Amino acid sequence: MKRYHVTTFGCQMNEHDSERMKGMLESLGYSEAPRRDQADLILFNTCSIREKADERFIAHLGEAKRLKNEDPTRVVGVGGCWAQSVKEEVFARFPFVDVAFGPGQVHRLAEFLASDSLTAQGFFEFEGFTGHLPAKREREFQGWVQISVGCNCVCSYCIVPSTRGREVSRLAGELVTEVEALAADGVREVTLLGQNVNSYGRDLPRDKRVTFAELLELLDAVDGVERIRYTSPHPKDMREDVIRAHAELPSLCEHIHLPLQSGSSTVLKRMRRTYSRERYLDRVALIREHVPDCALTTDIIVGFPGETERDFEQTLEVAEEVGYDGAFTFLYSPRRGTEAAALPDQVPHEVKVERMERLVELVQRRARERAQRFVGRTLDVLIEGPSRTDPSRLRGRSRHNKVVNFTGLGSPGEIVDVLITGATSQTLAGECSLVATAAC
Ligand code: SAH
Ligand code: SF4
Ligand code: F3S
Repeated sequence: MKRYHVTTFGCQMNEHDSERMKGMLESLGYSEAPRRDQADLILFNTCSIREKADERFIAHLGEAKRLKNEDPTRVVGVGGCWAQSVKEEVFARFPFVDVAFGPGQVHRLAEFLASDSLTAQGFFEFEGFTGHLPAKREREFQGWVQISVGCNCVCSYCIVPSTRGREVSRLAGELVTEVEALAADGVREVTLLGQNVNSYGRDLPRDKRVTFAELLELLDAVDGVERIRYTSPHPKDMREDVIRAHAELPSLCEHIHLPLQSGSSTVLKRMRRTYSRERYLDRVALIREHVPDCALTTDIIVGFPGETERDFEQTLEVAEEVGYDGAFTFLYSPRRGTEAAALPDQVPHEVKVERMERLVELVQRRARERAQRFVGRTLDVLIEGPSRTDPSRLRGRSRHNKVVNFTGLGSPGEIVDVLITGATSQTLAGECSLVATAAC
C-alpha cells in the first residue's frame, strides 16, 4: 500500500484543505505515514501570508529533495497559497517537485496520481470547492465547514485575493446537508470558514440568496451540533443581525474574532480596510450591548508602511479600550504583487519590533484582566485531550474559546462543567464542578 505524508502551513482553510487531501488519498487506497521519510507521496500545503511562512516551508523542501534523491520514485507535491502565488515558477526553482496545485485544486492531485504522469504538472485554475471530497478529520468531534472560498476585498497588504481568487459562496442547502452529516458522524463543534464570512451569500443567485445571519440560524437548527464558531468576520460587513444571533442562537458561541489590523483611521485607509476606528469601535459597542460577556479577539498588524508613532499609539488606545481576550499580532511583511509592498515609508524592522513589544505587553495585560471575570464561574468545557503541561489534567475549550486546563475525568469530545479557579492571559485553570456532570 502506498503511503503519504502531508505537512500543513497557514490558516484553518489550509488545515481543512489538508483534511480533504487526506480523505481523498485514503479513498484512493493510500495510508498516512507518520514520518516524511516513510512516505511515497510527500505533500506540502503551503501558506504565503508573510515572508516567514515562505521561509518556513522552503526550509522543509530541502528534506524532500534529499528524500527524492534517495528514492526517485517518490512523488513530491506542493499545494496551497504559496504554490498558487508562484505558479509554474515552482518547477524552475525546485526541479524535484512533481506536481503543484492551488488551494481549490486538491481534486486535481488525484487526477495527477491516476495519470502516471512523468512530467511535472501544475494546476492553478480557480474553480469550485473541495467540499465534495471526503475529509479525514483531525478530531472526530470537531469539524470545519468552508462556507465560501476566495475574497473580494482588496486589503493592500494581503496576498490572499491573488491566491484564493474571487469570493464564491456555497449553497446554504449544501452546507446544511454537510453539517447534518458531520453531526451524524459525532461532530459537536463546527467552525465555519470564509475570508469574510459576513459577505457570505452575496454572490448567490437571488432566489438562492441566504445571508450569513440566516445561514447561522439554519445551522443552529441542526440536531447534535452544540457549538458553532466562525472565522473571520469583517468589521465593515458585521451587521446587527449577526451580532444578535450570538445572543439568540443556543449553539452560536460567545466569541467573535474581529480583526482590527490598526487603530488609526489613516492607516486603515491606506490598508483599504474600508472602515474607520470609529466604525470598528461602534461594532464592538454593539457586540457588548447584545452579548455583554462575549469574548473578543483580533488580528493586528504592526509597522504598516507610513505608520507613525502617533498611528501606532492609536492602535494601543483601541486595544486598551476594547480589552481583547486575545490577539494575534503580526509584523507587517511586504508581499509580492501587493499594493502596500510598493508604498514609500516602509517602517524599519527595529521600529516594528519595538512597537510589537509594547503592543504584546498591553494585549497580554488586558487579556489577563479580562480573564478574571471567569474566576468563580462554572463554564461548559469541551474536552480536547490531556493538558499539555500536566498530563494528569485535562485540556478543553470554553464557549469563549478560552483554553481550560482542569482536574477531572472525561473523554475527548465530552462537554463538562468546570469551576474556574484561576486565569492567566492565555489559559484558565479549573476543576470539574461539584455540581458534577455524569463524566466527572
Ligand atoms: N480574511 C481574514 C484574514 C486572513 S489573513 C481577515 O480579513 O480577517 C490573517 C491575518 O494575517 C490578517 O488578519 C492580518 O492581520 C495578517 N496579515 C495578512 N497579510 C499580512 C502581511 N502582509 N503582513 C503581516 N500580517 C499580515
Ligand atoms: Fe486578505 Fe483583507 Fe481578504 Fe482578509 S479581507 S483575506 S485581509 S484581502
Ligand atoms: Fe491561509 Fe496562508 Fe493562504 S493564511 S489563505 S494559507 S496565504
